[in-house]
Amino acid sequence: MNAVLQAESLNAPSRTGPSVEPGPSCTPDGIMQLGLGFWGSKTLLSAIELGLFTELAREPLSLEEIRERLGLHPRSARDFFDALVALRMLDRKDGLYSNTPETDLYLDRAKPSYVGGMLEMCNARLYPFWGHLTEGLRTGQPQNEIKGGENLFEAIYADPALLKRFLSAMTGLSMGAGKAIAETFPWDRYRTFIDVGGAQGGVPVQIALAHPHLTGGEFDLPPVGPIFEEYAASFGLSDRLRFHPGDFFTDPLPKADVIIMGHILHDWDLDEKRLLIQKAYEALPEGGAFLVFEALIDDDRKENAVGLLMSLNMLIETQGGFDYTGADCRGWMEEAGFRETYTRHLVGPDSMVVGIK
Ligand SMILES: C[S@@+](CC[C@H](N)C(=O)[O-])C[C@H]1O[C@@H](n2cnc3c(N)ncnc32)[C@H](O)[C@@H]1O
Repeated sequence: MNAVLQAESLNAPSRTGPSVEPGPSCTPDGIMQLGLGFWGSKTLLSAIELGLFTELAREPLSLEEIRERLGLHPRSARDFFDALVALRMLDRKDGLYSNTPETDLYLDRAKPSYVGGMLEMCNARLYPFWGHLTEGLRTGQPQNEIKGGENLFEAIYADPALLKRFLSAMTGLSMGAGKAIAETFPWDRYRTFIDVGGAQGGVPVQIALAHPHLTGGEFDLPPVGPIFEEYAASFGLSDRLRFHPGDFFTDPLPKADVIIMGHILHDWDLDEKRLLIQKAYEALPEGGAFLVFEALIDDDRKENAVGLLMSLNMLIETQGGFDYTGADCRGWMEEAGFRETYTRHLVGPDSMVVGIK
């Protein structure tokens, strides 16, 4: 079953089961750590917003040098940088601050491995919106730009800067899963693929880079086209990856041996999910494969905290979206006619469900 990102990676206390008598290990530490988790989270998000890791990727810097480059007030600068050292996001040696190997690879905006787009979106949008989680839980209503009632994508796509940030956030969110899909799926059995709702193109690019025999591309709303094309061209893949503009609710999907939907089904309510699965079925040949990937909730709904919290994020972000288990998705695929289905863990909290027509 789905290997999961366990509670401890979200600073949650481990589950020890009901105890009759609270023992010496029954402390409030885990509760307090989780409750204060937003302090560490927002410190990291501000560091990304300020470009700290991009500056330090050029050269290690002293407290005064980095403070001046980022334009920070002296009052809390030292505490800010040292908190990031204690949170294992920076190193400090002989008075010089530098990135850790991970922050240098993944949080330097100048590197193609940058995954901070998702975290930039968390900082700019999700952090304030999650302040209204309780209201969302009480009303069942989204708490973002569409609080008044429109569709999330219409709201995001009306603002070019927001669109670019959102699409690049998706690349950060799905880079690990995209690499795992490229490495573990039996691509030698197929020749063409389409990533439906592929955003900037992070996943199709990873697949095409790893498998030169494949051609395909992505299907997405028309405003995404130029951003996808620029991204695919930056990897020299324009001849093998094509953009197909359209609306997956009103247009047929392009035909291909493999259809992918990553973080698509969770945006929509159950009827819409079923409709999209049916359209994928219709676009595939006999023997074709449908790949769905998400932070799938484990079948017992007890372990993958990221998948469950992602579902709360869908409450904040969408009119009717919710995340689901591998078993849920396999059931919907089987209703649509897929003859064989299975779930595979990809990386961290992400898993995929595969349906073979
Ligand atoms: C949450 S993002 C997922 C991006 C990408 N698959 C990933 O996992 O990183 C949803 C994507 O669906 C696309 N989308 C939303 N509504 C759509 C529609 N009606 N027709 C086609 N694409 C749509 C969006 O433009 C966006 O790229």
